[in-house]
Amino acid sequence: MMRPSVRAGLPALSKHLKTIRESIGTPFFAYDFATITEAMAWLKNSAAEQDLLPQSRFCLAVFALPNLRLLTELVSHDNHFGLNCNAPEEILALREIGWGEWSRVVFSGGVLPANDLLAVASTGCIVNVASRGNLEILLSSPLRPRIGLRVDLTGIALKGIRLSELEDCLSIARARGTPIHALHAYPGTEIEDLGLLIRHAEVLINIAAKHPEIEEINFGGGFWFNYSSATGDVRTMTDLSTYFEAVRAARDREFRGRYIRLAWEPGRAVFAASGFFVTEVLESRENSPNTADVYVDASFTNVPVLKIRNRQHQTTALRAGGEVIPGVRYESRICGCTTLSSDLLLPRPCPLPELTPGDCVVIFDVGAYGRAGSYNYLSKRNPPEILLRSDDWYVIRRRQRPDHLLEGLEGHD
Ligand SMILES: Cc1ncc(COP(=O)(O)O)c(C=O)c1O
Repeated sequence: MMRPSVRAGLPALSKHLKTIRESIGTPFFAYDFATITEAMAWLKNSAAEQDLLPQSRFCLAVFALPNLRLLTELVSHDNHFGLNCNAPEEILALREIGWGEWSRVVFSGGVLPANDLLAVASTGCIVNVASRGNLEILLSSPLRPRIGLRVDLTGIALKGIRLSELEDCLSIARARGTPIHALHAYPGTEIEDLGLLIRHAEVLINIAAKHPEIEEINFGGGFWFNYSSATGDVRTMTDLSTYFEAVRAARDREFRGRYIRLAWEPGRAVFAASGFFVTEVLESRENSPNTADVYVDASFTNVPVLKIRNRQHQTTALRAGGEVIPGVRYESRICGCTTLSSDLLLPRPCPLPELTPGDCVVIFDVGAYGRAGSYNYLSKRNPPEILLRSDDWYVIRRRQRPDHLLEGLEGHD
């Protein structure tokens, strides 16, 4: 495997590593702000090239990188971006930080308990309901919510209105005086086959065009990210020009001048490349002339997505002062600092130089579903997050309390 050479954000991480570690220690997640905004600009400009921008919105998938301060900052200055929430907890957190632009939020979660569903709908965001029962609850409420249908185009998904139920749902809503506002369908994630994404969009456009009450089509997320890429440059991974051209052609063909808003819910494509996971080397041992075990001060529980998805990410190594350590000496297993005998941060050994205690191992492309998946199994606390921005860095989430095992026990004998 080639060691990656060019990496946006890595020079900034190298430059600030020493001060970051002196301030917050390791392990930590770092996000490169410019990498995120460049991915957003790529989506926006690609839609603009096909004259789709005026009616398009990209609602960033909150659960991919649920740092609300960062997300609201990212979308606040540009109306072509919004937020995609998938859990009532995300809506609650947005409320608590004083978010007020609910017309820029779209909720596309699963089948919810009535209380949660009504709390989400009460904000005024579009709620893409995922079942007939949830539709019924909203239609019976006095809220006059903006309802979308999360449609299951496959007929086998766990959530979503099946095509066989669609006409019924649309006509019930019409009859009850709250016509369905939007159609949403999620194509799945990490879709490399552009033809599949295009087909998904075309099918949804065809369905929506048959129903005059539909004002918005939401194509979900799913854009491909190539984790083996040396550069992590998402703009080289999906031919967005071809994609948006096909979407525009289908829209023009089916809608013939009728106004329709278009929405997407990108997660991975926007955030993945921005994220680095940095962990300190505690010790290492040679297993053979070409292989080694590297023990680090983190656990797979800090970034479980790699193990869950059995996905090998690119890595590099930094000296304590931040310099990239050149060359490859060993195929190294990155071993976590817990009791679990299978605590490996990456599923397979990765090419690394010879490392000494105090050096750092950096795992690339963990901006999406990385820190978001961090959990407390094996009693580990969740790492902090920092943002690399404009030649400086900022803590955007503190490390979890060291006594987190006592959370929720307060006040109990
Ligand atoms: C409903 C919904 N929207 C958007 C996304 C984001 O998808 P991606 O990260 O593949 O762009 C997901 C991810 O699972 C999802 O479930």
